[in-house]
Amino acid sequence: MSQVYLNGAFLPLEEARVSVLDRGFLFGDGIYEVIPVYGRKPLALDAHLDRLEHSLAGIRLDNPLERTAWVSLLERLIREATTADQSLYLQVTRGVAPRDHGFPTGVSPTVFAMSKPLTPVPPAWVQAGVAAVTRRDDRWLHCDLKTTALLANVLLRQQALDEGAVECLLLRAGFLTEGAASNVVLVVDGVLCSPPRNHLLLAGITLDLVLQLAARLGIAHAERPVTEQELRSAEEIWITSSTREMVPVTRLDGKSVGAGQPGPIGLRLLSAYQALKNHG
Ligand code: PDD
Repeated sequence: MSQVYLNGAFLPLEEARVSVLDRGFLFGDGIYEVIPVYGRKPLALDAHLDRLEHSLAGIRLDNPLERTAWVSLLERLIREATTADQSLYLQVTRGVAPRDHGFPTGVSPTVFAMSKPLTPVPPAWVQAGVAAVTRRDDRWLHCDLKTTALLANVLLRQQALDEGAVECLLLRAGFLTEGAASNVVLVVDGVLCSPPRNHLLLAGITLDLVLQLAARLGIAHAERPVTEQELRSAEEIWITSSTREMVPVTRLDGKSVGAGQPGPIGLRLLSAYQALKNHG
């Protein structure tokens, strides 16, 4: 097992220890990032570190490390990992202090990072598509922050798994927001569209890359509110995330999406994404 990073040191995962008084443990008072690595090259590292800054600012925590320090510690994890394709995880919490809701003073944040092998997306998911379910989005109103307080997302994802589906798509007041751990991009009346990036969803880096590819390929895209009705009658639905790239949803709440097969616009974007991740 390769080494992990904890508070300035590199050590074996089994030896990495955090106090039970850590505010990440007691309050979910922390933020995180997940960065995909292909052939030992991180994809869109700057965008992930920018989003880390946004999340830290959103929970009023100073960035504990300079950008160059983040890059060099992540580079070391990438270099020493056992596989070339990896998923980097990093987390910053408000540190260890006697339990009290208010911010502690004079406490250093806990900084943790590790690499694990990137699990490839099952080929059948891309060939046939996956099932998804819908649920009411009952999360808080700061979903643009990538916080470790993921209980709502955990419960929503589990409801999908309990029904034999892969993801839970979320509807707030009749409009699509995102998936429990993914963004959603869809084709409605021939046009690629995705919900507005605001406080109701995470600004996904994968989605951003996919939209840049769409622009390059001349595929028109609209960022606009998507109604539940539009979701249910979409020709194509795709979920995007750093660990699963682009996965077609071909069944939604037990009904076929479009023709019931991965659609042509998403497939074009997926192959462009594959080329990007492998060759930059
Ligand atoms: N999650 N929305 C939510 C709620 C997410 O948790 C994620 C990713 C995304 C997609 O963002 P990105 O394309 O930047 O990975 C959207 C990661 C993979 C996770 O929690 O493991």
